[in-house]
Amino acid sequence: ADEIAAQKWVLMVTAQTPTNIAVIKYWGKRDETLILPINDSISVTLDPAHLCTTTTVSVSPSFEKDRMWLNGKEISLSGARYQTCLREIRSRATDVEDEKKGIKIGKKDWEKLHVHIASHNNFPTAAGLASSAAGFACLVFSLAKLMNVKEDQGKLSAIARQGSGSACRSLFGGFVKWKMGKEEDGSDSIAVQLADEKHWDELVIVIAVVSSRQKETSSTSGMLESVETSMLIKHRAKEVVPKRIIQMEEAIKDRDFPSFARLACADSNQFHAVCLDTCPPIFYMNDTSHRIISYVEKWNRSEGTPQVAYTFDAGPNAVLIARNRKVAAQLLQRLLFYFPPQSDCDFNSYLLGDRSILQDVGVQDLKDVEALPPPPEIKDNTTTTQKYKGDVSYFICTRPGRGPVLLPDESHALLCPETGLPK
Ligand code: DP6
Repeated sequence: ADEIAAQKWVLMVTAQTPTNIAVIKYWGKRDETLILPINDSISVTLDPAHLCTTTTVSVSPSFEKDRMWLNGKEISLSGARYQTCLREIRSRATDVEDEKKGIKIGKKDWEKLHVHIASHNNFPTAAGLASSAAGFACLVFSLAKLMNVKEDQGKLSAIARQGSGSACRSLFGGFVKWKMGKEEDGSDSIAVQLADEKHWDELVIVIAVVSSRQKETSSTSGMLESVETSMLIKHRAKEVVPKRIIQMEEAIKDRDFPSFARLACADSNQFHAVCLDTCPPIFYMNDTSHRIISYVEKWNRSEGTPQVAYTFDAGPNAVLIARNRKVAAQLLQRLLFYFPPQSDCDFNSYLLGDRSILQDVGVQDLKDVEALPPPPEIKDNTTTTQKYKGDVSYFICTRPGRGPVLLPDESHALLCPETGLPK
């Protein structure tokens, strides 16, 4: 071990991990420290090309302590959740040898060696798009690779879960279930893949990043208050979710979009009803969120069968899942009609992700947006054709995507291979 301390090398690993959106929500814990949920949940993993976290982890005998940088800024690793993830991964480390670099790390050495971690989101952290899910999943995945941890992806998900519950679902691509488990130690509270991203690749996901001034209650404290004060959450966890999980698994297996959409919308609405049933009540959705729900409900009704599902997490952003690309284009026509960009907005930054959808939408610039006709379903009577310019900050077009991957090319690394400090 003393020999190792005198050495100068830096060994590093870079990985990329997706974010995920729950279609059957996790809300409420039965154990705060282990992060054990009161019900199963199901999510769709989002394409990392558009929304992901990239993390480089490195180890060197020259590092004096564990350090982490998030989006270029150093952050503290002293929080219990970081400490747990680091401890759980370290305790499973095995021998690592890099003959080319002349590095040999024994299982025991890992206890004394320190790590440097740099993490970056390819989307604005402030937008409230589940950055903690991708972040903890990527931290655990990349550390496990660096330390040659031989556990399977399910076991790793149980470690990521202790960083942030929803993070365990980001260890897999496609459609993922987090089984609540029943063991006291949480060993069976893990994520499993229901189907990979190719199973249902027609789906197109449009996220409306809704402008809001207000800082929302964190998921962690929000769900704790719900468990402590809501009666509805008990009924939800015991009676409602178990049935929905079975139905949602079936809908995914059969690619049954109407059932998928009905279940996802109902579950999002019940989650927000639980928030309202919490004392004091928690409001995550705002007027814009509610308007988006109304437009989608009205359109789905006029089509006779659901074309688009909506779901909202602990914030006002809408995640809209369209049954295919054609429907997604029609959805964007509607959204751009109701929520045109501010006049001074650069139209190129109003739709992020897969911008190629704009071809199908038939919109190239602001002028085209202004010329969009009102959606036919509001021709009848009640709904006004009022527009809400500026109420959506921007849209992201994406799709179901793959799970974590290693980025072997050193050019992707966020840390300098000589110093182990941010590039
Ligand atoms: C509304 O995973 O962020 O997004 O486990 O306390 O870190 P902690 O909470 P977190 O909660 C996510 C809640 C949700 C629903 C979901 O993702 O299932």
